[in-house]
Amino acid sequence: MFYDTHAHLNAEVFTDNLEDIIKEANEALVSYINVVGFDPKTNELANKIAKTHEFIYASSGLHPVDIENISLSHLKEVEDYLKQDVTVAVGECGLDYYWNKETKAKQIKYFKKQIELSKKYQKPLIIHVRDAIQDAYDILYEASKDGLLQGVMHCFSGSKEMALEFLDLGLYISLGGPVTFKNAVEPIEVAKIVPIDKLLIETDCPYLAPHPYRGKLNKPVYVKIVAEAIASIREMNIEDVATYTTNNAKKLFKLN
Ligand code: NI
Repeated sequence: MFYDTHAHLNAEVFTDNLEDIIKEANEALVSYINVVGFDPKTNELANKIAKTHEFIYASSGLHPVDIENISLSHLKEVEDYLKQDVTVAVGECGLDYYWNKETKAKQIKYFKKQIELSKKYQKPLIIHVRDAIQDAYDILYEASKDGLLQGVMHCFSGSKEMALEFLDLGLYISLGGPVTFKNAVEPIEVAKIVPIDKLLIETDCPYLAPHPYRGKLNKPVYVKIVAEAIASIREMNIEDVATYTTNNAKKLFKLN
């Protein structure tokens, strides 16, 4: 059984074929899926999809790339979703200086606020970081001091040294399609060293389809390809990768 811990089934591209995509995943034993919100509209849709499908859960958050048009009333909406059982995480949230450097200060402000919400509702963070790894680390390091920090570095793209630093803060590491890419270097090193009880898998669909579907539409069924790549890198069998990563995710997201 597989757990795709990061899927954007709330993306527009899935509007017309959502049920088929979910059925295809379930038939391939991708039994658990987190639908991850990133702005007010996709948070609402994630909530709706999770409420109407068994074993699909929602994450509610405000993505750093879209932070420009965000106000505190949107944060209040996120908080309202966090009061519901179908919402298992806060995010995706974090820092992204690659797509948007001008909003740095506002990104940091909203990241910190979402960390506070994560602690208040004891629901883990789903953290996005791009070209901002040191700032993200510094903020998370500060936030870890009270022992209440919990979350996952989603589609982790940093070095193995940085992975170890985030693991030290008590965070999980999630790997997706890039670990299967022909030119992958760092994700493969990271896949080797993350303790098996701290590893999650994801697709980040519709983005980042794994090899040999790179550049095409990604979907939750492909999380098996990610698991396969990790199994081969770690010289494990895929069933064990599936069992560990599913149990890790169920523990982090507090599913019974
Ligand atoms: Ni994402």
